[in-house]
Formats: sequence, structure tokens, C-alpha cells
Amino acid sequence: MMNETTRYEISKKRQLLKAHHSGDVNAEPTDQQQKLPSIPCLQAPKGTQIIPLPANFEDLTFTGNIMELIQTRESRRQYADEALSLLELSFLLWSTQGVRRFAGHKNPVTFRNVPSAGSRHTFETYLFVNRIDGLKKGIYHYLPEKHELEIWDDRDNFDAELLDALCGQTFAANAPVLFAWSSIPYRMEWRFGLKAVKYLLIDAGHVCENLYLACEALRCGTCAIGAYDQDRFDQLLGFQPESSAETDYQTIIYAAPVGKQI
Ligand SMILES: Cc1cc2nc3c(=O)[nH]c(=O)nc-3n(C[C@H](O)[C@H](O)[C@H](O)COP(=O)(O)O)c2cc1C
Repeated sequence: MMNETTRYEISKKRQLLKAHHSGDVNAEPTDQQQKLPSIPCLQAPKGTQIIPLPANFEDLTFTGNIMELIQTRESRRQYADEALSLLELSFLLWSTQGVRRFAGHKNPVTFRNVPSAGSRHTFETYLFVNRIDGLKKGIYHYLPEKHELEIWDDRDNFDAELLDALCGQTFAANAPVLFAWSSIPYRMEWRFGLKAVKYLLIDAGHVCENLYLACEALRCGTCAIGAYDQDRFDQLLGFQPESSAETDYQTIIYAAPVGKQI
């Protein structure tokens, strides 16, 4: 039986599930309503080495129609040793976070291949690359604006730390590539205040489901990862969420390994 404190904490967390209700009328105006400037909708490159991604997706061989892809989708935890091509990786990045267009001048937003509440798109994509043709082992950051990668950290000795960050889930740590999505919640909080957390967590599901379906079409497999060690994962990427400024705060919220189906 849960004790009082745990039950109280759980009931507080359930507030996250709620949308607007009449009690909100007295809520403090959001930063957008207070006409405060928003933050950029994309994280600027670090300025290290940039790798352009190929986008000739018509050269890929896709399998299955939409009905088959939905029907065969499942969490796959075993992958072939084979590397993915850079074009396949590029397609997966485009499917999950690719930008279609920008809108707005004062506070520009992106429209992408996945939906997002208010088109706020709070996610940044990091890749732990083990076996991708044409990429050396390392940690990369996706730059959706021009569909590029940048080297986030060129170290190649992250295996043990990644396994710890993934709570010992070997299949994920050893996959050809691991997608790790962070969120910069202020992008959403600026507009939605207290409701931001609910919306950005819902948004994460769209991203990962597109990865499942895009993987299926390439005969790859993936598996959503929600069980990870928050501090270890954030440290591995160099985030310091608790000491960051409110608007810079960035923390990992979801991950997914990808490999070829066996
Ligand atoms: C939010 C979320 C977190 C998950 N975390 C993990 C995880 O850490 N490790 C794992 O092996 N599977 C994880 N899964 C995969 C589920 O176990 C899987 O979706 C479920 O068993 C249903 O199987 P299916 O996806 O093949 O339909 C997660 C799935 C979701 C949606």
C-alpha cells in the first residue's frame, strides 16, 4: 500500500494531465501574453564540424503500404550487425524532426513533419553513432534548419557511460545508432505556461511513432526507451539542467535505438 506522501506526490503529478479549466482564468499571463520575447525555435550549432545530410530519398527502397506499416510495427530489440547508410539515417531524421517551412518574423516558428502544440517544437535530437556508413563513431546533434549534423562530442569511448545511462539496456546501447531527444521546455512555456509540460510530453509520442513507422518502411527496427538514468544521460550530453538559466534548461526526455531488422 502506498504511503500518504507517495499518494500526495502522485496526485500532484496528475495535475499534469489536465488541460485548461475554469480555474485557469486567474492564472498569471504567460510570457507571450506579457509580450516577452521568445527564444529561438532551433538550437544554434556549436560551430564544430558540420556534416550535410543526403536527401535523395527516392533512392531508398521502401517496403509496405501504410496499412502494412501500421500492422507490422512493433518494438524491436534485436538488430543485425550491419551498418545503416547515411541516407537511411537522414530519412529517419527527416521523418522525426525534419523542417518543412518557417513562419513568422518576430518570433519565427518551424512547421515540421510531426505536429507540435502551437508548433513550438521543443525537441533537439542527439545521436550516439556506432555503425553508420560514412560517419565515425561519436555523438552528433541534428540541425533541422538545413538538414545537417554537427559533431556534438567526438569522443568514441562512451559505451560504458551510455549503457549506464540506459539502465543497462544493452540492446539499445549497442545498436548502430541511438536517437536521444532532449526538450527545451521554455519554447513551450513561453506560450502555454503551466500547460507546457503536458503538451511537450504529448509531442514526444508523435516523434517516436514517426520513427517506428519510418523504420518499418526501411526494414529497420526501433524501440522506445523511457527507462533511463536522468542525471547520467544529461551529463553524458553535457547538459546541466538544474544550474541552467530558465530559458536554456535542456534535459533528455526520450530515446530510441535503431538497427536493421534481422
Ligand atoms: C513511453 C514508452 C517507454 C518505453 N520504454 C521502454 C524501455 O525503456 N525499454 C524497453 O525495452 N521498451 C520500452 N518501451 C517499449 C514498450 O515496452 C512496448 O511498446 C510495449 O511492450 C508494447 O510492445 P509493442 O511496441 O511491440 O507494441 C517503451 C514504450 C513507450 C511508449
